[in-house]
Amino acid sequence: MRVEDLKLRAELADLGIDIRSGASMAELTSLGIGGTTDLLRITKHESIPELIALLERHQTRYKFLGGGSNLLVGDGELPWLILQLAKPDPEIVIEGNLARVDAAADLGRTVTFCAKHDLGGMEGLIGVPGTVGGALRMNAGAYGMQIGSYVREVKLYRAAERKIEILRGTQISFEYRHTSFAPDDMMLAVTLELPSKSFKEILQGIRICNEKRRSSQPLGQKSAGCIFKNPPGASAGRMIDELGLKGLSVGDARVSDRHANFFVNAGQASAKDMLTLIADVRGRVENAFGVKLEHEVVVWDA
Ligand code: EPU
Repeated sequence: MRVEDLKLRAELADLGIDIRSGASMAELTSLGIGGTTDLLRITKHESIPELIALLERHQTRYKFLGGGSNLLVGDGELPWLILQLAKPDPEIVIEGNLARVDAAADLGRTVTFCAKHDLGGMEGLIGVPGTVGGALRMNAGAYGMQIGSYVREVKLYRAAERKIEILRGTQISFEYRHTSFAPDDMMLAVTLELPSKSFKEILQGIRICNEKRRSSQPLGQKSAGCIFKNPPGASAGRMIDELGLKGLSVGDARVSDRHANFFVNAGQASAKDMLTLIADVRGRVENAFGVKLEHEVVVWDA
């Protein structure tokens, strides 16, 4: 979708929105899959309520993009605009045990920045690609920890109220890869309360997690992390592996040889290829184990 209306372009410019025409979602996602549309970069959180009202007045559909690391986007010209927060400077401010982090900040950089200030707890998230906002909205976790445990406060655009609000951590429920945020709420910033730990100790934890991840996940390849959530008490990766499906392909979409719950784009995979592979694997797991796997990856199919 393109912003062609000159009046709309001018109104967007007034709100400090930077328009990138014909952005390729393949370049904005870790899977390297997805068609094209115009990308609107938001430079001021406070402009969001007006921006949304403006887009709605122009009957223009939109989606809100984080870091694009847990996302499968459809092929071709897309029927919605993409909104994304521009990175502010600074992205992180430390005050004692609190880290005030913009949602656009890179998750890995946030973990190491906090470590340098002797704040730990998030070692498990090292190596998880994406933004802090994306990690927050889906309660990203690994190696026994989840980001939700450290949330003191969240600043978000509440779609239902059409305004920016601050929620305390206790007002939000954080479950396994799930939060009580509404699908169209936009994460803007978070205050994390982190335990004091020496940089040396945190670094040791980071090294261990990095090593575990390197030995079990296909890090150098284009993927969206795990495709399916783990069903209670089981591992989706192990089930897919037990069925001998590593290496199963549709076009260039392929079940990783290293970790069976990672599906990689081994070249020029289309969204159609990837969705076909996901449906095929899901069907085989259901036939063999009677378990309906739930997507972890977010799908924006046109
Ligand atoms: N396994 C296999 N074959 C495989 C993959 C895994 O047999 O191809 C076995 C492993 O040997 C292990 C068990 O399955 O005994 C669990 O595997 P792993 O420790 O890799 O954990 P996982 O349950 O597959 C979860 C998260 C990952 C996270 C790791 C580490 C989900 C869906 N996945 O994976 O998160 O990095 O634990 O904590 O919760 C993600 O969310 O995108 C993600 C990658």
